[in-house]
Amino acid sequence: MQIFLDSADEKELTHWLAEGVVDGVTTNPSILLKDGAGELESTTRRLAALLGHRPLSIEVTATAPEQMIAQGRTFSRWAANVVVKIPIVTQEGDSCLKVIYALSRAGIPVNATAILSFNQAVLAAKAGATYVSVFAGRVADEGHDPAQLISGLQQWLRRWESQARVLVGSVRGVMDVQRAAEAGADIITIPPALLPKMVDHKYSRETVRQFNQDAARAATAVAARAGQ
Ligand code: E4P
Repeated sequence: MQIFLDSADEKELTHWLAEGVVDGVTTNPSILLKDGAGELESTTRRLAALLGHRPLSIEVTATAPEQMIAQGRTFSRWAANVVVKIPIVTQEGDSCLKVIYALSRAGIPVNATAILSFNQAVLAAKAGATYVSVFAGRVADEGHDPAQLISGLQQWLRRWESQARVLVGSVRGVMDVQRAAEAGADIITIPPALLPKMVDHKYSRETVRQFNQDAARAATAVAARAGQ
């Protein structure tokens, strides 16, 4: 399973890359706004360079299909590791499958985003999306079980030998990460604030404290014996 950072914060990205747990980054316009990102091209180029070969998802801001395709083509020229994020539908509910299809056929990897149902994900995979982004938190907001959606989708994709990968986003708590992982997500994109909570545990601290104390006692005992 891969972990992506759901963030445009370069400090956080640099930190977690050095921890060895980041396989890619996802952004969206709300994340770019929250993280105070600047102009899109320079931000994209900087994040892409930090990531090296790892994928960076950048979402189109155009709302009409032809403009989405043109914007996707432009984004993909900014860096080799750019993945173009295309919503499954427009805000009016019009299908964006032809955008996903056109970019994918042009060899540009697509992350089909804002996916809230099994059928949306199936269609995005059929249209050639590299990633299908299931918004777990928003699925739960609607009263549905994201884990059931993720595992059912995984089974369908594997049964039909689809190359599309299930990327779980809209993660709001550490248990969302665990449930998505147990449900078989290929990738989970995690807000950086959750990672320290995932790594820490009070009993681990206490265990390490005990070992440190005993190491100091043992060193004192060794020194005392050497002095006898
Ligand atoms: C990631 O790719 C998504 O854009 C992000 O996780 C969405 O999260 P939200 O539902 O909290 O906006």
